[in-house]
Amino acid sequence: MTATELERSLALAGLSAPVHWHEVTGSTNADAAELAEADAPEWSVVGAGHQTAGRGRMGRSWLDRPGDALMASIVLRPSMPVESVGLLPLLAGVAWAESASEATGVEVRCKWPNDLLVGNDKVGGVLAESSVVGDTLRWVVIGSGVNLTAPDIDGAAGLGAGVDRVALLGGFLSRFHRGYIAAEPSEEIVARWSAASATLGRRVAAVAIDGRHRSGLAVAIDAWGRLVIETGDGPTVVASEEVEHLR
Ligand code: BTN
Repeated sequence: MTATELERSLALAGLSAPVHWHEVTGSTNADAAELAEADAPEWSVVGAGHQTAGRGRMGRSWLDRPGDALMASIVLRPSMPVESVGLLPLLAGVAWAESASEATGVEVRCKWPNDLLVGNDKVGGVLAESSVVGDTLRWVVIGSGVNLTAPDIDGAAGLGAGVDRVALLGGFLSRFHRGYIAAEPSEEIVARWSAASATLGRRVAAVAIDGRHRSGLAVAIDAWGRLVIETGDGPTVVASEEVEHLR
């Protein structure tokens, strides 16, 4: 991607906001968080051709093949209650799945909470970071990384080096924007995510940071974007654990 392609993607989605492009940066999420702290307007976007300290969920790193991944972070200033913020990464995931499926003709699906899969392989992911004071959201950064060619990691996939990057990112931004302005009530996000889900209907294991382990059938996501699993002891809610798809 280039700075011009990033600008064209935003314009394709009908959005107008500052665009920041780096051939190489540490993390576009870190850059976007800095901009958010410095009062950057909503929809400001940071993109990069390569990250040297890409961040993933649960403290993991995100590795890219330089020039062969779409990596972008958006600054948001949502007026939604703090408890609902978990809906935004789900919305981002489904907006990517819809856009990527359309741009490539290959079915891209969402693994809870915000991985993008082609078959069982991970093609992308979303990392939401936020600043909260009291019970008010000051800002949220939604960072997305989508592989065009697969990095050298087991279980990783790419969408294809020839994919139209502007159509892909512009398609994501416009779908995300549409869902964002109608984010409450949450029915639309829940319905769209459920339709693109690779997780619902599967047996899953949820593993907490302290190693606690619950398994069951994934049956729904609730109005706050949490995963509901049916265990032998009845339905239970998974909020922030890592989820594994079981065979
Ligand atoms: C995950 O799968 O755990 C989430 C990966 C999110 C990676 C993207 S790449 C752009 C943005 N900047 C980062 O440092 N991380 C996100």
